[in-house]
Amino acid sequence: MKDNSTQKSEITIDTTSGAAIYNKSLLTTYDFFVLGLSNTFFWRCPTQLILDFYNQNISAKHLDVGVGTGYFLDNCKFPHSNPIITLVDLNPNSLEYTAQRIHRYNPTTLLADIFQPLPSELTFDSIGLNYLLHCLPGNSILNKAVVFRNLNNSLNNGGVIFGTTILGKGVLHNFFARQLMRTYNAKGIFGNINDTHEDLETILKEYFRTYNIRIIGCVAFFVGWK
Ligand SMILES: C[S@@+](CC[C@H](N)C(=O)[O-])C[C@H]1O[C@@H](n2cnc3c(N)ncnc32)[C@H](O)[C@@H]1O
Repeated sequence: MKDNSTQKSEITIDTTSGAAIYNKSLLTTYDFFVLGLSNTFFWRCPTQLILDFYNQNISAKHLDVGVGTGYFLDNCKFPHSNPIITLVDLNPNSLEYTAQRIHRYNPTTLLADIFQPLPSELTFDSIGLNYLLHCLPGNSILNKAVVFRNLNNSLNNGGVIFGTTILGKGVLHNFFARQLMRTYNAKGIFGNINDTHEDLETILKEYFRTYNIRIIGCVAFFVGWK
């Protein structure tokens, strides 16, 4: 991965499009339509598998980026009863919704664009970016490598970064998934038409000591260890 290509994407891409849609009324229906219906029937990746994935990887000092409704943070099992949780999102509605939902953990919130570096004093043992990458704009997932560069700087040695993302190529999209992909990409809700397993692997190889990717339905589950 060449840094100059990612820097170019920082300058030319409008990074706000993937966050704009998350208003309060959409957030109240997100769990039912996205995590319930879409995951089962369109992306063919049951939400329970993503929850299991959170349970396998989450630590007691966790950063979650692109938090949406906070469903996984609310339902996963932390390895400690008082985890330290930081939430980052470009949309204040998502931050507020999730912070309220998991207020029992007293999370810290940060309104930020993940295409920009996070404050250097923030460091974590796990970072989750679930269903974030496919929302980010870019002609290729390689244009989103800067996100991993930024997050890697916030990850402690021995820490883990994990997430899932809907791929645009190299996986089987059923009829409904194809319609949804077309509509969401046309509206800027998704930016994943050219996102592939191979390009995701190129990024993980660049930034992490070891990594793993597995595909379920249209969804890539990825983990990188620092
Ligand atoms: C599809 S939701 C994911 C919700 C949640 N992680 C889940 O898996 O259910 C995507 C979230 O990413 C946020 N987002 C989109 N672009 C972003 C950016 N450039 N920086 C930070 N957050 C962003 C959106 O505001 C939204 O809350």
